[in-house]
Amino acid sequence: MKPKSPTESSAVLAELVLPYQANPAGNVHGGEIMKMMDSTAGVASQKHAHTNVVTARVEEINFKQPVLVGDLVTCCANVIYAGFSSMEVFVTVESENLRSGGKQIALTAFFTMVSLDEDGNPSEVPPVVAEDDPYWRKLYLEGQKRYEARRKRRSR
Ligand SMILES: CC(C)(COP(=O)(O)OP(=O)(O)OC[C@H]1O[C@@H](n2cnc3c(N)ncnc32)[C@H](O)[C@@H]1OP(=O)(O)O)[C@@H](O)C(=O)NCCC(=O)NCCS
Repeated sequence: MKPKSPTESSAVLAELVLPYQANPAGNVHGGEIMKMMDSTAGVASQKHAHTNVVTARVEEINFKQPVLVGDLVTCCANVIYAGFSSMEVFVTVESENLRSGGKQIALTAFFTMVSLDEDGNPSEVPPVVAEDDPYWRKLYLEGQKRYEARRKRRSR
């Protein structure tokens, strides 16, 4: 299969946060953001594999900054590493205060998405190529490490 770069699988989803998604103090529920992240990871992995994909795992979800009602939330996802049928997707969430224009990375996470064939069995995906760019290369190598560590744990 022809390798693909993380920029080929790039997906972006943006949404204005409304009061029903938040607690009474105006802080957005973590689950609302996680749902957006999952959808964005789903699109990125489908752009990579062109198959049905399911979420198998979420790792290192770090809520760094609060997201508040009225913020514009933008999720960006890229496939940074692929095994045989699994893809690791790096998702970042930026929140933007539309009055002040202030922006920050509110959270990040790594999603593992698995490609399924028409019978629902794991199916092969293209490898990721990330040699040219030090940013994607670093994420690729970190993704490879997590993939190998997971495989070791699963085989025990
Ligand atoms: C994900 C799923 C298809 C894997 O099925 P499985 O029988 O374990 O398949 P395999 O053992 O052949 O693993 C397939 C790939 O998934 C990876 N994988 C499976 N479970 C994983 C997990 N918990 N975390 C990370 N990767 C996982 C394997 O490492 C393997 O990767 P590779 O092909 O790149 O080497 C299956 O567990 C499933 O359907 N889970 C539910 C998914 C779902 O419904 N998600 C939505 C949540 S509501």
